[in-house]
Amino acid sequence: MAMSRLLVVASLLNVAAGFKFMSNFKMPSLQDKLNGQKADAKFGTKKLVVVTGTSSGLGRKTARALLRTGRYHVVGAVRDMDKMEAVAEIEGFDENDFTAMQVELNSFDSVRQFCDELKTMKMGRPLDRLICNAAVYQPSLPYAKWSVDGHEQQMQINYLSHFLMVSLLLDDIAAAPDPRVVLVGSVTGNDNTVGGGGVYPIADLKDLKGLKAGASNPISMFDGYNFDGAKAYKDSKLCLMMTSNLLHDKYHKQTGIAFSSIYPGCIAESPLFREKRPWFRKYFPIFMKYITGGFVGEEEAGMRLFQVAHDPRCSKSGVYWSWNGGPREGRDDALETDGQISGGGGAGGGWDSIYENDQSDKVLNVETSANLWKYSTEVTGANWPPANQPKSPCPTLVVVGSITTMMNAKQEAKRFTPAPGNVGAGAAGTIAGVAGTVVDTAVGGTIGAGLKFAQAKLLGDVPDEAKEGSFQEEVASEQSESGSGGKRKRVKAVWRKIFRKGPSAEQLAEAKAAEQAEEAAAIAEILEREAAEELLALKVEAALASGLKVSSKEDVSA
Ligand SMILES: NC(=O)c1ccc[n+]([C@@H]2O[C@H](COP(=O)([O-])OP(=O)(O)OC[C@H]3O[C@@H](n4cnc5c(N)ncnc54)[C@H](OP(=O)(O)O)[C@@H]3O)[C@@H](O)[C@H]2O)c1
Repeated sequence: MAMSRLLVVASLLNVAAGFKFMSNFKMPSLQDKLNGQKADAKFGTKKLVVVTGTSSGLGRKTARALLRTGRYHVVGAVRDMDKMEAVAEIEGFDENDFTAMQVELNSFDSVRQFCDELKTMKMGRPLDRLICNAAVYQPSLPYAKWSVDGHEQQMQINYLSHFLMVSLLLDDIAAAPDPRVVLVGSVTGNDNTVGGGGVYPIADLKDLKGLKAGASNPISMFDGYNFDGAKAYKDSKLCLMMTSNLLHDKYHKQTGIAFSSIYPGCIAESPLFREKRPWFRKYFPIFMKYITGGFVGEEEAGMRLFQVAHDPRCSKSGVYWSWNGGPREGRDDALETDGQISGGGGAGGGWDSIYENDQSDKVLNVETSANLWKYSTEVTGANWPPANQPKSPCPTLVVVGSITTMMNAKQEAKRFTPAPGNVGAGAAGTIAGVAGTVVDTAVGGTIGAGLKFAQAKLLGDVPDEAKEGSFQEEVASEQSESGSGGKRKRVKAVWRKIFRKGPSAEQLAEAKAAEQAEEAAAIAEILEREAAEELLALKVEAALASGLKVSSKEDVSA
C-alpha cells in the first residue's frame, strides 16, 4: 500500500517533469507560418547578423566584409540613421541585405525598443550573430558626461547597454544553429600586456563599490572613486571581456552560443579618437605605425571582426581572439608599406594569424565577475534565464530525481528549524517548515520512518575520529547520538571525564544492556509513529479527495 502510493506520487511528478520539459514547445500558429514565408522571401538562406555601430570605423568595415560574402543579412544598429544612410551609400551596401535600425545606447529604453522592433522585423527568424561593437572614448574632460539613465556615458554605451541587449536577445540567438555573440574588447582592458598594463591609467574595477551603489550620477566610476575618463573607457572594455567569459560559463553548454571577445588591434585612424586633441589625432597613427608597429587599418580590423563572425574556427566559445602576437615584430615591414601590414608581422596579420590570447588575472577574477554580473543585472534591469546545464533525458533519473527532490525538501525543512547557530532561520524557514510538513505527510508516513531506522542500523555509529577535535563535543554527542549506540558513547565519555580512562568490561556490559533496552523502546516508538503517520496520510488523502484544502497537519485534524 505504502509502496504503491509512493509510486503514484513519483509517476505524477514524472509526468509533471515531462510537461515542464515540453513547455518550450509551441504549436506554430497561422501567423507564425505567414511570418515564416515572409522571412524566407526577405532573408532567403542568409544568416541574420546584428552589428552595433556600423556607421563608422570597425563596425562599418565589418558590415562591408559580411555583406561581400553574400551570406549574411546585416542589421546595422546605429544612433544616427541619416549618417548611416550616407555611409551605406558610399560603401555600396545592398539594401536587400542591409537594414539600418535606430538604437541610442545612451538609453535603456531605446535598447529595449530596438530589441522589440528587431523581433518584429526578423519575423520569427533566429538571430545568428550579435556583434557588440559600438563604443565611445571620452578621455579628455575632467568631468563625466551622463546618459539618459544617469550613468557615466562610456560605461552605459560601451558596456551596460550591450549587457542589457544580450539579455533581451539571448533566446532569439539560442534558436540559431551555430550562434555567436562577439563583444569587442581591447588590449586596454587586459592589463597583462604593454598596451593594457603599461599605460596609465590601468583598468581596475576594484571592489565594484560604485556599481554596487548604482553607478548613477554623481557616482561615475564602477570602482566608486573619482572620475577619470580614460580609465572609464578601459574599465568598460574590462567589463565586456569579463561578461563574455561569464556568458560562456553560464550559457554556452545550455544554448550552444559561442561567446567571445576580441582585440581588433589599434585602429589609430578611426573616429574613436574624435574627443582627443588635434595634435594627438595627427601623431598617434604615425607613432603606432612607425614606432610601435602596432597600427591596424580600419579595413584590416574589419576583416578581423568579420572573421570571428564567419570563420568555423571561431565557433569556439570562451575565447579572447587576437592576431599575430607582439606589436613590435614586423616594424621594418611597416616602414615599407605605410604602416599597413597584412598577412604577417606586427599587429597586422591575416586570417591565419588569429590566436586565442591570454586574459589577465583581472579579466579572469571570478569573485569580481560574479559581482559584476549581479550588480549590472540590478542596474540594467536585465532579466536572465536560469543558467541550467544540459540534463540527462534518462527516465529512471527523472523518477529518482523527483524522489530526491522531495526528500531534499524534507531534510531542508529540518535544517531550517530555529536552533543555536542557525542564522538562516526566519520567514523562509517557517515557510519551508510548512512545506516540509506536507511533504512529510506524503512520503514520511510511507518510507521515511522505515528508511531512517534502516539507515541507523546499516550505517552504524559515527566514528570517534570524526568527532575528535570538536569544541562542542557534548552538544554534538547529544544531537548525533540519540539513536542506537548513543548511550554507550555517552557512558564512555562520562567515564573518561571522571577517571580519565576507559570503563571496565563489567561496566560496559551494563551499558550494553541499557542500550539494548533503549533500542527496543526506540523501535516500538518508531512503529507507533509510523502507524500514526500512516493514519494521517490516509486522512490527508480523504480530505483532498473530498475537495478540502490541506496545508498543514492541523487542517487535517480540524
Ligand atoms: N580604434 C581603436 O584603436 C580600437 C582599439 C581597440 C578596440 N576598439 C573598439 O572597436 C570598437 C569600434 O571602435 P571604432 O574605432 O570603430 O570607433 P568609431 O569609429 O568611433 O565607431 C564607434 C561606433 O559606435 C557608435 N556609437 C557611439 N555612441 C553610440 C550611441 N550612444 N548609440 C549607438 N551607437 C553609438 C558610433 O556611431 P556614430 O557613427 O554615430 O558616431 C560608431 O558607429 C569599439 O568597441 C572600440 O572600443 C577600437
